[in-house]
Parts: sequence; C-alpha cells; structure tokens
Amino acid sequence: RKYTVPYEDIGAEKLSELMNAFYSRVAKHPLLIPIFPEDLSETIRKQIQFQTQYLGGPNLYTEEHGHPMMRARHMHFKITPDRAQAWLECMAEAMDEVGLDGKFREVYFKRLVMTAHHMVNAPNDEE
Ligand code: HEM
Repeated sequence: RKYTVPYEDIGAEKLSELMNAFYSRVAKHPLLIPIFPEDLSETIRKQIQFQTQYLGGPNLYTEEHGHPMMRARHMHFKITPDRAQAWLECMAEAMDEVGLDGKFREVYFKRLVMTAHHMVNAPNDEE
C-alpha cells in the first residue's frame, strides 16, 4: 500500500472547511475574542497554510512567512492554560461539525493538544 501523509487523508477542501468552522467558534468564545483580530480572514488563510504543512502537505506557510517558530509567534499574546483549553474545545466542535472522525481525527487532535500546551506562556488570570 502506498504511504500517504495525513494531509492527503483530509484534503485541501475539508481542511479549509475545518478552519472556517474553527474560527467561527473562536470569534464567539469569550476567552478568545480579546486576543484575536476582529477580521479573521487573514488568520484563517495563514492557519490553512500552516495546517497544510503540519499535516505533511506542501510547505505553504514557510514559503510565505519563513520558519514557523510557532511558540515565538504566540509570545505577543497571553496564552493561558484556560485559553489553550478553549482553543482545543473550539477545534473539537469544529471537527464534529465537518464530520472528522476515526483514526485520522484521533491522531490529529492528540497532536494539536500537545502543540496547544506547548504554546502556553502565561498562568491563568486570578479570579
Ligand atoms: C496565530 C492564539 C494555539 C497556529 C494566532 C494568533 C492568536 C493565536 C491570538 C494571532 C492571530 C492573528 O493576529 O492573525 C492562539 C491560542 C492558542 C493557539 C490562544 C491556544 C493554545 C495554536 C496552535 C497552533 C496555532 C495549537 C498550531 C497547531 C497559529 C498560526 C497562526 C496563529 C499558524 C498565524 C501565525 C502568523 O501570524 O503567521 N494564534 N493560538 N495556534 N496561530 Fe495560534
């Protein structure tokens, strides 16, 4: 059987649907609204480029923006454990919405959990 990268399992169209579903949730999440721009179209475009290469597809993000250095690029924002959790919840709901399931979803989501935890750079706000 021919070896395929995860990107080929999801494909460009489904990935784009997933990212649009994800950011429509981000745009409504009380913990995430304050750190995201009001117009998310450029964020969506960059995230599609990044996820394409994250899943083993063409290096679209690096070609346009250089080395990802994702943790460094998130340093301008306060990424608390609660915000990482919120980000992942939006992603899980978006995966439900576009009908991602099975092994692909399990492996992809686990990887996002690790990356999201790696982005955390601030403690939760005190109540
Ligand atoms: C950009 C928040 C996790 C990938 C951003 C931006 C924010 C943000 C506020 C800037 C949006 C903009 O100005 O356009 C968060 C929070 C996370 C998180 C709260 C919770 C842990 C992740 C994860 C990934 C990721 C897990 C990758 C798997 C990206 C990419 C960009 C981005 C590719 C665009 C970078 C660029 O401007 O070139 N994120 N992020 N983020 N994030 Fe995250």
